[in-house]
Amino acid sequence: MTNQRQITIFDTTLRDGEQSPGASMNLKEKLDIALALSDLGVDVMEAGFPIASQGDFESVREIARVVRGTTVCGLARCSEKDIDRAWEALKGAESSRIHVFLATSAIHREFKLKMTREQIVQRAVDGVKRAVHYCDDVEFSPEDAVRTEQDFLCRVVEAAIDAGATTVNIPDTVGYVTPAHMGQTIEMLKNRVPNIDRAVISIHCHNDLGLAVANSLAAVEAGAGQIECTINGIGERAGNCSLEEVVMAMRTRNDFYQCRAGIDTRRLVPTSRLVSGITGLQVQRNKAIVGRNAFAHEAGIHQDGMLKERTTYEIMRPEDVGFAKTDLVLGKHSGRAALADRAKTLGFRLTGEQLHRVFGEFKQLADKKKDIFDGDIVALIEQQLHGIPDEHWKLVSYEITSRTGDQPHVKVTLRNGSGEMTKEVRSGDGPIDAAFRVVEEITQMKLVCRDYQVRSATIGRDAQGEASMEVEYEGRSYRGVGVSTDTIEATVKALLNAVNRIAVAKSGR
Ligand code: KIV
Ligand code: ZN
Repeated sequence: MTNQRQITIFDTTLRDGEQSPGASMNLKEKLDIALALSDLGVDVMEAGFPIASQGDFESVREIARVVRGTTVCGLARCSEKDIDRAWEALKGAESSRIHVFLATSAIHREFKLKMTREQIVQRAVDGVKRAVHYCDDVEFSPEDAVRTEQDFLCRVVEAAIDAGATTVNIPDTVGYVTPAHMGQTIEMLKNRVPNIDRAVISIHCHNDLGLAVANSLAAVEAGAGQIECTINGIGERAGNCSLEEVVMAMRTRNDFYQCRAGIDTRRLVPTSRLVSGITGLQVQRNKAIVGRNAFAHEAGIHQDGMLKERTTYEIMRPEDVGFAKTDLVLGKHSGRAALADRAKTLGFRLTGEQLHRVFGEFKQLADKKKDIFDGDIVALIEQQLHGIPDEHWKLVSYEITSRTGDQPHVKVTLRNGSGEMTKEVRSGDGPIDAAFRVVEEITQMKLVCRDYQVRSATIGRDAQGEASMEVEYEGRSYRGVGVSTDTIEATVKALLNAVNRIAVAKSGR
């Protein structure tokens, strides 16, 4: 295995992943993910698009300052301002990459950019040269590459390499390509671009046809040396190639692909949970590798086969992707050390202060619920880790009255950042409507509910309910997550989590 080709894993969870609707993250959340990606072993992490906003700039700069052992990359259009800003954010990194992109397909040239082919080539060359002036690791992406005329694609790629690009990325921006088409495109570039051996060929596949992983693997088979991907496959529209799937496919079918990636696969599930907790984008139960059912055998024949010989029905071991071996049950008498140990096994790194807070919540939960499962612990930790630290609004108490034939009433008392308490009661078409009305009244924010879900964190009827929602406020989407054994209380907490995010955004932090 040692002589096998090493595939560069370029993670773009913090850039393309953040472009998933409702998935925007604050600086602390991005930093938590960046550290987890570094622990996971990704080679390059695209930390953001520094020119896009002050927040993006600051998070790229902070990630560049803190992360060690992983190349930190910033995205820029082929314009001086973008590239200068990207470098400004990246210059403190131990190892950095500037990623410049420019659309090349006829559709984009004609309708979006209104530029001729000559102008495109010139701008790509100028962009790469400006980036090379700052940094010797420069990636160039001809956006919508797979829908670009082949002759022109070859011309742009050759010019970008001549200008100094060390990686050329072939994006399937709209998720249009099929595996055979992707393989042919990579072969075609290898055969027709004279200087192609001076750069690493990368691919960046979107999942509009559900083919992103298959297309990425086809590209690797044809000789691509870098895969761009995201945790849980999140990203623009239907998302990107899922990191956990592509990595496990290459590992499980090493006999076929004969290449390796430097990923610590035991960190896949913890990293997936972290990203899902932070972004609010839940992982479907049957999602390959990291879904809750990915290793659950239901059919009697399968269970029987598994008991006789695991490999009858399992091609990977759950522990190899980071599922804990047992769902150990904790309870009222479990101490801080047991909780700390479980948190570590589940892949969380908690500071002393965080452990202290989670332990407080754990004790309160243990008074309400006899058995505390891994799912409960994950929910408690995520709530602590990803709550908004300086809460503007805190729940002091809530009460609900609901009976057949009457509108339900929700009474809430909140404490604001200055310590003042406000109590209000509102009725609504249902308890959720009433909860929205009362929170809107106290916070004076008009919210539109875009998505709302409650799911049980674990098995059992005393399980905690995890409410997650997406609300719109003044044209922007915000997420909120709340956990409680009382689902309406979980909903009020989720609402407050969203409202606190709005307050943070409004105060410009
Ligand atoms: O999908 C795309 O084309 C991109 C580029 C910026 C690489 O995300
Ligand atoms: Zn993309």
